[in-house]
Amino acid sequence: MKVLLLAVVVLFSFSGCSQDKKVNNLDGKKLLEQKCTKCHNIDLPPKTFTNEKAPAMMAVAFHVVHFIKTEDESQRIPKAIAFVKDYVINPSASKSFCDKASLKTYGIMPSQKGKVTQDELQAIGEYMFSHFTEKNLNEAQLLENKLNAMPKGERLSLQNGCLSCHKINKKIVGPAFRDIAKRKGNSLAVLMHSIENGSKKKYATSKGAVMPAFKKLNDADVKTIAQWILSLNKSQKDKK
Ligand code: HEC
Ligand code: HEC
Repeated sequence: MKVLLLAVVVLFSFSGCSQDKKVNNLDGKKLLEQKCTKCHNIDLPPKTFTNEKAPAMMAVAFHVVHFIKTEDESQRIPKAIAFVKDYVINPSASKSFCDKASLKTYGIMPSQKGKVTQDELQAIGEYMFSHFTEKNLNEAQLLENKLNAMPKGERLSLQNGCLSCHKINKKIVGPAFRDIAKRKGNSLAVLMHSIENGSKKKYATSKGAVMPAFKKLNDADVKTIAQWILSLNKSQKDKK
């Protein structure tokens, strides 16, 4: 009984805690998507600059957090959030941190009065200044560089979750891609068929684990992946 009571107390204190953090449990990310993406691009980093109606949200967040005046650094984010809460309802050229040329191209942001509440803006602001940070931008760019440097087949394998069961050189759940490439009789057509329809009992090393079918992948991507897997055999020979 005591244990149960303790569990109840712990449960309550936890739920109280999370409520303090999020304003009425509002999801800032979702609200930002719902209320702001009509005009602002929210990619980190923004992927396209065509047909822009407004500066990218990343740029907005960086502007506001850097240009806001504060003597106490610990107040920078709260002040930035307060700026957003005011600006979205009462925008004006004199308040905007946008440079004059951008203001001319975009025009002043139309007031969103009646479309978003102050509590919602608090949640949006908290999300903006924790998500659009230089640290997250650097990480996103490093990941993008890493993906861009990979052969396309490897990138597709990573993006489609193949690498949770396969490594290039080592058997994990599934055989090493290099061992698949070396296996006698494994042609492009055989590999494509297995990726699309799955495979089982072909490899003794799988110990009963099966290869699930990937029906949703399109033919071109399956081909690119299968070609990349087969190329691993060659690249090993080349190295020797
Ligand atoms: C109808 C289009 C539109 C919508 C919807 C919109 N914005 Fe804007 N916003 C703009 C434009 C255009 C600008 C750039 C001109 C300016 O600074 O007023 C801007 C600028 C801003 C700025 C000032 C940027 C700076 O550098 O000073 C903030 C902050 C901002 N938007 C936040 C938001 C948030 C948060 C939302 C969603 C609740 C939102 N906006 C929805 C069009 C929009
Ligand atoms: C849940 C784990 C799992 C995932 C995810 C997975 N595989 Fe497999 N894969 C396996 C297992 C296990 C085998 C060996 C099956 C057997 O013994 O026939 C295998 C075998 C293969 C084979 C060899 C088939 C043959 O005919 O020789 C290829 C090619 C392959 N996988 C590619 C992929 C690709 C590409 C992806 C991602 C689109 C992927 N796998 C995702 C577990 C997985």
